[in-house]
Amino acid sequence: MYLSKLPVLTLLHVLAPASSTYFYPTVQASLLEHILVDTSGAHASSFIGAITPCTNYVSGAQTFGRETAAQWLRVSFHDFITADIASGTGGIDASIGFETLRDENSGSAMNDSLGFFRPYVSSKIGTADFIALSVVMSVGNCGGPQIPLRGGRVDATGPGASGVPAPETSLEETLEFFSGAGFNKVDSIGLTACGHTLGSVHHGGFPTVVGPEAVTPNNTAGGIHFDSTVAIFDPLVVHEYLNGTGNQGGPLVNSFNVSSRSDLRLYESDNNATMIKLGNQGEGFLNTCVTLFQRMIETVPKGVVLSDVVKPIPVKPINATLDFDSGGNLIFTGYIRILTTGISAAPQSILLTTSLDQKGVVLNSESEIGSNVFGSTKFYPFSTKVSNPGSFTSFAVSGRGFSSKTFSVQSNIFVVPSLTSVTATDNTTATVSFSIASKGGYLRRDNGKVPTVRVEAPVGQMGTLGPAIAKFEDVAVTSAGQKAGYAIWEGSVAVEGWTLGPISVSVLDGKGNEVDVVMVD
Ligand code: HEM
Ligand SMILES: *[C@@H]1O[C@H](CO)[C@@H](O)[C@H](O)[C@H]1NC(C)=O
Ligand SMILES: *[C@@H]1O[C@H](CO)[C@@H](O)[C@H](O)[C@H]1NC(C)=O
Ligand SMILES: *[C@@H]1O[C@H](CO)[C@@H](O)[C@H](O)[C@H]1NC(C)=O
Ligand SMILES: *[C@@H]1O[C@H](CO)[C@@H](O)[C@H](O)[C@H]1NC(C)=O
Ligand SMILES: *[C@@H]1O[C@H](CO)[C@@H](O)[C@H](O)[C@H]1NC(C)=O
Ligand SMILES: *[C@@H]1O[C@H](CO)[C@@H](O)[C@H](O)[C@H]1NC(C)=O
Ligand SMILES: *[C@@H]1O[C@H](CO)[C@@H](O)[C@H](O)[C@H]1NC(C)=O
Repeated sequence: MYLSKLPVLTLLHVLAPASSTYFYPTVQASLLEHILVDTSGAHASSFIGAITPCTNYVSGAQTFGRETAAQWLRVSFHDFITADIASGTGGIDASIGFETLRDENSGSAMNDSLGFFRPYVSSKIGTADFIALSVVMSVGNCGGPQIPLRGGRVDATGPGASGVPAPETSLEETLEFFSGAGFNKVDSIGLTACGHTLGSVHHGGFPTVVGPEAVTPNNTAGGIHFDSTVAIFDPLVVHEYLNGTGNQGGPLVNSFNVSSRSDLRLYESDNNATMIKLGNQGEGFLNTCVTLFQRMIETVPKGVVLSDVVKPIPVKPINATLDFDSGGNLIFTGYIRILTTGISAAPQSILLTTSLDQKGVVLNSESEIGSNVFGSTKFYPFSTKVSNPGSFTSFAVSGRGFSSKTFSVQSNIFVVPSLTSVTATDNTTATVSFSIASKGGYLRRDNGKVPTVRVEAPVGQMGTLGPAIAKFEDVAVTSAGQKAGYAIWEGSVAVEGWTLGPISVSVLDGKGNEVDVVMVD
């Protein structure tokens, strides 16, 4: 049970009605922010490892000459471009996972990427959100600027329309594909130049573009780079194209095979006017790319509602939860993360106060710090006994060099993290066992006596490496006595098929909204 759906509050604001304890500010935003911000050092997510350094290839030998950061960008294009904005279908919906055997999706990028995302996918972040996140990470961590990221995409359950331009596709048809997805000629030239500043065209997959002579012992897939800085998100591809220097725009400009020169056809389609404009922007080209990429990753099917932009959170409660210690006492435990930018480092210690304890406890930072493109982080673990949960309605964090924040909590009902786990029964079944602690709030089944629990597990599905989510609603629970004044309820669910990533266990209120969630691996 973690902080959820709580707005950032300063001490000056009236506290919002306490929704729960939490992931902060929502489960999804908290998890996305973690991957985006905690990229190195303390408590870093392993996600960034795939593109560190940016030349890295995570799905095979470095000698293939492939690059994961570039693959992620290409996957997003192939998922997006088949959108039909007039009818509100397609876009970033992970349908690409079902479409890997189409000629238009040739190359290893699709399954390499979805295979890497697979163990991270959960009910809170689907494959389509990972496709968007991966674009933001590739660009923002390989020398480029930050693209605003929203969550909430919905994964398709099957393949979508076709219509991805290939090197031999005519200019007219290429522009039709882009137009269907809402991009005019100028946008299309810009988006393609932005995409083609990272990565290569490979003989392996595209022998009609790049000849066998590109294959060498340390480049066995035979990749030829689009520009001279294959792993830096910079404007060089535009300048090398215009000046005829370096890689001259790459194989899709100067392929031995004239019919494979799709970038040249596109770039020249307005007599180079757009490319010259982009060249004249200098480093400003990168901002043009931010705008175009944001439009691309926010092209989603009709009805999908994207979240607010996920911003780095200065004062972030992490895994902050009520739980029971080994003596059966109620505790409030977790971490506070302080993110500082610029030269000001977070203090050695901060103060945690609660509505129960205005004097508060001093929290000391762990010795390891985190560093990232936004600044640096320090983590302050805490675990404090809660003697009177009825009065535990908020906590606040203050310290030198950052604005104090107050967070509201509810302590009526929570999923008990230390009594919630997943065990593999055999290779194809996992058992999720959970406990709920309640003091009477939010019970609704059987005349308000029994908690309502939902379990959601990512499982494998045919035809794509993107997981499906198996949902278990209204899971049966049985009474299991009392702890620290709370009624305890237990239950379990057997998940058939391969469970892949984090499983969510949620307790719901009378309207079916999640009041508390635990994610278990
Ligand atoms: C006219 C439209 C386009 C065509 C015909 C085209 C075609 C291609 C081809 C044939 C490759 C080589 C893939 C490989 O060898 O694995 C490639 C790579 C790439 N494309 Fe495009 N592309 C187009 C537009 C775009 C756009 C709009 C983006 C923007 C996201 C993009 C991003 C990339 C990236 C990042 C790579 C490098 C992949 C890697 O190194 O593995 N492309 N493109
Ligand atoms: C392969 O080795 C050559 C010669 O040492 C070098 O110029 C080239 O950059 C290397 N290519 C890759 C993909 O590492
Ligand atoms: C050039 O590309 C076209 C279209 O992909 C293909 O049909 C043709 O065989 C290629 N030519 C060579 C010499 O590879
Ligand atoms: C391209 O040419 C322009 C104008 O001569 C020059 O300012 C620029 O530095 C050149 N860029 C590259 C990458 O050669
Ligand atoms: C566009 O620019 C490229 C690179 O400088 C050049 O090779 C080509 O001839 C130009 N095309 C037109 C129509 O100006
Ligand atoms: C929070 O909990 C998750 C899931 O148990 C764990 O992977 C992660 O390391 C925890 N984060 C911190 C900062 O302890
Ligand atoms: C489970 O997987 C392991 C390793 O892949 C295999 O050796 C074992 O036979 C499998 N067991 C069952 C019950 O399928
Ligand atoms: C990608 O993975 C899916 C799911 O395992 C599989 O059906 C498909 O054949 C794979 N595609 C390629 C190109 O290997």
